[in-house]
Amino acid sequence: MAEIPPLGEMNLDDFRRTGHQLIDWVAAYLAHPEACPVLSRSRPGEIKAQLPDAPPAGPESMDDILADFENIIMPGITHWNHPGFFAYFGITGSAPGILGELLTAALDVNAMLWRTSPAATELEETVLDWFRQMLGLSAAWDGVMTDGASASSLIAMAAARQSLPNLHIRVKGLAGRADMPRLRVYISDQTHSSVEKAAITLGVGQENVVKIESDEAFQMKPAALETAVSADLAAGYRPFFVCATVGTTSSTSIDPVPAVAAIARKFNLWLHVDGAYGGAAAIVPEKRYVLAGVEQADSLVVNPHKWLFTPLDLSTFFTRHPDIVRRAFSLLPEYLRSAETDARAVKDYMDYGVQLGRRFRALKLWMVIRTYGVDGLAARLTEHMRLARQFAGWVDDSAEFERMAPVPFSVVCFRAHPAGMDDEAALERLNHKLIEAVNATGEVFMSHTKLRGRYTVRLAIGNIRTEAAHVKRAWELCRAALQSMPEAE
Ligand SMILES: Cc1ncc(COP(=O)(O)O)c(C=O)c1O
Repeated sequence: MAEIPPLGEMNLDDFRRTGHQLIDWVAAYLAHPEACPVLSRSRPGEIKAQLPDAPPAGPESMDDILADFENIIMPGITHWNHPGFFAYFGITGSAPGILGELLTAALDVNAMLWRTSPAATELEETVLDWFRQMLGLSAAWDGVMTDGASASSLIAMAAARQSLPNLHIRVKGLAGRADMPRLRVYISDQTHSSVEKAAITLGVGQENVVKIESDEAFQMKPAALETAVSADLAAGYRPFFVCATVGTTSSTSIDPVPAVAAIARKFNLWLHVDGAYGGAAAIVPEKRYVLAGVEQADSLVVNPHKWLFTPLDLSTFFTRHPDIVRRAFSLLPEYLRSAETDARAVKDYMDYGVQLGRRFRALKLWMVIRTYGVDGLAARLTEHMRLARQFAGWVDDSAEFERMAPVPFSVVCFRAHPAGMDDEAALERLNHKLIEAVNATGEVFMSHTKLRGRYTVRLAIGNIRTEAAHVKRAWELCRAALQSMPEAE
């Protein structure tokens, strides 16, 4: 007869021993994340090939599991903690954020109802209100934490749809209705794909996502927005939602929120501001202007996991209309009823989004804010922006490189452009090779985008460990890579 394995929890003395060992491991890793190449050198399928096809029937020792973590998993990790991680937007975790995650995992509470953990709800309310103040928003704003800006923007669009009078979409749906006008959503040609995804998810349809042209600085053209909305109204469409972005994904441009807000007001559109990346800059007093006009918006997303040293995942969704968000999402099955919920004496965060079960995310942001202080956080963002301006200056001073966009935050868009090479396809090939060469050093990781069809290298600074020397090294590597390419001569 097969032996019956022991039941119950892992031995807690073993847990304590391994836990101490892992904290030591994490501290050593964070002290020297540059010991590993920033971009994993793993080839497709290589990690999976080393893993068993089927799970173990019996118990395995933690020592064996951790050995496999070191030997199999670690080589397949791209090190977002590496100070040379300049791709996309960094996730910018930090030590207090990791400790917060540890406690969140240990407590493992579900922050769906107030009573399923009063502290989780009340800390979320408090931290959101702290963050609201840090961003310079008035007390008219209320928030909820989500897993990402994609979810936050989905909530915004669902609330906007809910606010449409007489259509009763929540109850009657969209399909098969003769009385349903075609709903229209407006974004710019630079808006993040998550907003279009929200329109897909909510049944608005991609055809009804109108992409408004942006100007030479990649900012939405308000006049083009007004023209598009007027034309759609004349054609019988129902415009209902516009998204302006503070810190677009490719170039970090800032849409003219006050002008967009005036148009939104004129045509009764819900104005959502996507500040997933750039919004955090508003905690720096000199950068508060980036949220100018947001006070007139209906909703806003800012992601502490993008640029506020908080580990994935944590997005904050703010709105001036929490009642509408609640009407869009609240659905109370009997088993979730409670006296305090019935009395509306408390907030149940399950009412403000799609998710029922919710992580206790507020804890890590609380610990991050308290560890560094608001001034300390602002100083770190200020330094990132200074480093970006410095890098932009080197690009501007170089005869072989050119800047592709203004630098309002901590991202520099640039490319190599040797004299006499003006064919776009050749420039794309050259810059693609440049990124590959630079990334192959293992010292930095940069990614690319296209701006107006032109291949562009992005250097995004956001890691708490990135210092001037790392940015300087990135510049040296770019120049060296260019010099080593025969086509650049
Ligand atoms: C401006 C902007 N909005 C939204 C998103 C989506 O963010 P998330 O990954 O949190 O859903 C991104 C991602 O980079 C972004 O840059």
